[in-house]
Amino acid sequence: MIWLIGNKGMLGNDVEKLLKERELTYWSSDKEVDISDYKALEKFGKDKKIKWIINCSGYTKVDKAEEEIDEAFRINKEGVRNIALFSAERQIRLIHISADYVFDGRQERTAAYSEDDKTNPINIYGKSKLAGEEEIKKILGEYFIIRTAWLYGLQGKNFVYTMLRLFKERDVVKVVEDQWGSPTYTVDLAGAILKIIEDDSVSCGIYHFTNEGMISWYEFARTIYKKAKRLGLIEDNKKVETQPIKTEDYPTAARRPEYSVLSKKKIKKEFILKIRNWDEALENFLISLRENREGIESRVEK
Ligand SMILES: NC(=O)c1ccc[n+]([C@@H]2O[C@H](COP(=O)([O-])OP(=O)(O)OC[C@H]3O[C@@H](n4cnc5c(N)ncnc54)[C@H](OP(=O)(O)O)[C@@H]3O)[C@@H](O)[C@H]2O)c1
Repeated sequence: MIWLIGNKGMLGNDVEKLLKERELTYWSSDKEVDISDYKALEKFGKDKKIKWIINCSGYTKVDKAEEEIDEAFRINKEGVRNIALFSAERQIRLIHISADYVFDGRQERTAAYSEDDKTNPINIYGKSKLAGEEEIKKILGEYFIIRTAWLYGLQGKNFVYTMLRLFKERDVVKVVEDQWGSPTYTVDLAGAILKIIEDDSVSCGIYHFTNEGMISWYEFARTIYKKAKRLGLIEDNKKVETQPIKTEDYPTAARRPEYSVLSKKKIKKEFILKIRNWDEALENFLISLRENREGIESRVEK
């Protein structure tokens, strides 16, 4: 049986949908089973025969983390340590989600980060995610850590929703052009997570997963606009200009890595995965938004 932790989050929501679709038996929990409280994990897990844990929970507020340092570490380090301890004690196989922010982003733009590249987080969120990875490595001999980046999905706040809202509200939208990465549709990552379980894989370790391709936030925003316009998600008579700006013109509490493209060679080879390009995945996401329009309007509105 599978225990999905963090099922109310953006990624967890799509993992849960897929678990249902594939008719896999699972339990799920979110904040009501606080991962930073070991006893809460024990209480929930009592009398359950768990083979896999998928941990999609986490503290994910990148800018707020700069002031809520203890809270970020309480969840992303201590909480992850508890999950690892619980897994070790019960011989449960763990799939944990980590982030591109464990890297500093100073890598040459021609070489995507591989799993073995040197980590060096430049913000609190990245440091707390790396601390979580280290706890897992200390406690478990075998584990799956999947680092991902630039996530968006139907559930939760994300860049695509923010852009769609700004395209409604403004005539000019300014977006940073000097940070590069690979957007990732949560549905695609959920598929990769379940592949590991369905293969009953023993090829443990750290893996990278994002959609294929590399773009800047500015190019991403422009593509969202063009596609959303074509798909009728933006009114015909509404014209918006997307303008490129520099990171220094858009100050945020947390510094972001300039470049965070992750190499997917290892995960593709090990699990014989085909990964879609970000462009195709985005198109697919926007089509599902169009199909779910009423439910979605409220999210874009936020
Ligand atoms: N979003 C991205 O762009 C991105 C990029 C790279 C990596 N990741 C990683 O991918 C994973 C999933 O991200 P996501 O964007 O889907 O996150 P998310 O939407 O913020 O979901 C995380 C879930 O965990 C819950 N949670 C928080 N503290 C908890 C606790 N102490 N015990 C149990 N549950 C708790 C959250 O509840 P509340 O919402 O009520 O706090 C939320 O439902 C995370 O590990 C994240 O670090 C995300």
